[in-house]
Amino acid sequence: MHSLTVHAAGLVACLIAPALSHPTHSPRHVHHRRYEHDASPTISPNIPTKRTAYDLDGNGVPDVCKALSGTDEACEESNSQWITFNPNSPPTPTAKLQAPVIQTAVATASLPRGTLPSAATFQQQNGTKWTLTKKGVLQYSGPLGQMNLQGDKARTGVLGGQVIWNFGDMTCAGGLDVCGFDMGPAMYGTSSISTVNTQDITQIQDAAFIQPHASTTNFFANEILGEGCTAWGMDNSNVAALNNTHGIVLSWEQWRNCPSLDRKTDGVQDRGLGASVITLGDKFPTATRVSGLLAGGDRVAAGKLAIMAAEGYIYSYTVEDSGMSSGFFATHNMIVGRASINDRDIFSSTTAWEFYMPSTQSWVSGIPLRTDAPKYNLQTASGKWNCAVYGTVMWSNYFNKYMLFCDLLENEFNFYTADRPEGPWSEEYQLITGVSGYGSMVHPEYSEDGSHKALYISMGPDTEFEIWRVEFDYDA
Ligand SMILES: *[C@@H]1O[C@H](CO)[C@@H](O)[C@H](O)[C@H]1NC(C)=O
Ligand SMILES: *[C@@H]1O[C@H](CO)[C@@H](O)[C@H](O)[C@H]1NC(C)=O
Repeated sequence: MHSLTVHAAGLVACLIAPALSHPTHSPRHVHHRRYEHDASPTISPNIPTKRTAYDLDGNGVPDVCKALSGTDEACEESNSQWITFNPNSPPTPTAKLQAPVIQTAVATASLPRGTLPSAATFQQQNGTKWTLTKKGVLQYSGPLGQMNLQGDKARTGVLGGQVIWNFGDMTCAGGLDVCGFDMGPAMYGTSSISTVNTQDITQIQDAAFIQPHASTTNFFANEILGEGCTAWGMDNSNVAALNNTHGIVLSWEQWRNCPSLDRKTDGVQDRGLGASVITLGDKFPTATRVSGLLAGGDRVAAGKLAIMAAEGYIYSYTVEDSGMSSGFFATHNMIVGRASINDRDIFSSTTAWEFYMPSTQSWVSGIPLRTDAPKYNLQTASGKWNCAVYGTVMWSNYFNKYMLFCDLLENEFNFYTADRPEGPWSEEYQLITGVSGYGSMVHPEYSEDGSHKALYISMGPDTEFEIWRVEFDYDA
């Protein structure tokens, strides 16, 4: 069950502003215009019952609570225990901090291992030493399964053994009346890469996920946004686990449909970076915005490409363009930041975050200005990054390396490898070309035996998600 804050915020936002999650510099304006023209669709959201929010363990994160029969309530604490109480006399919050489980990138010895050849050899071995196969399209359980749900950006992460899918813009084929619209819903996975658990959803916004923090919009006073903007947009990272019960999502928040801005910016105003605590709700994963914006719109959009839990840190990856403003000719700067999973300020303070500067091989405290992006651009043996906006970063048990996947302007899906999350990164390996993939993601959770010898990839855009499987045959 969602907490009051999350659900009520979703309701208000959906009614007023079904906005977009696409980035400002998205190469795909054609596709998201479709939604912009439907700025005020008729959506009938489920109206949640008003509930009190509790934080019984005093950890600053609202608990997941539910009403029991009679008057009792029950809330789940960060140690996964449920506490039952009478709401007239709720227990006094007790702050208790436990050491989170450290996520490490240690491969299991029994798994197969492979060694990658050079990118040129890899290209020649297409179809012999590695094969790419289309497995079908992503399916959904329950009523939505029949409704041709579609959208862009299907990301996955794992929390407490549960796969969490979170998406970009999602709606059903046939228009907004069919199953509503949401700009970033989240659901649980099933045991199959091919099926998302949408059992309890009839309208896609029932699974609304990250919302703006009350302090970052004035929606909550039923006013129009600042400067006459009438919509907000949210671009979310995947979920990365801090421990078994709590995860994090980084979001890039925007105001949209802003009249005061010139056409070049498409009426979009970047607001900045937000962070949410993710917990496991009964039917859906629950997101709670902890604070206002971590950093303003002039700072790096940390985690827009992807985030990754590794070696006791949450790593955030971002492509910030510099040089020519057009996506094709811009320099794509790949930037990595990180915060310790033990740092309780990870959700609320820029000082918890540091960014890697390759020239000095050091981590610099705070979130850099976007205009400083070239100074933070990570090294790749190719000399430049062919990455536009989105992707996946993971530890590969098979290659015993980190892998960074990204796509470029609906044309290429590439990867790079490294021994360290900050690189230096290898030359570019081309995995997919000539298909119009957008927001293509890798889903390592579904690799058979967790070996990563084979990886599943989902690919948009705006129709159903195609599922592809790549299998490597480089066993040592
Ligand atoms: C998991 O992380 C959250 C957020 O940092 C923290 O509040 C909670 O106490 C942690 N749980 C455990 C079991 O360490
Ligand atoms: C690999 O080969 C297939 C079949 O010839 C081709 O369609 C595909 O574009 C190739 N992939 C890359 C990345 O070159």
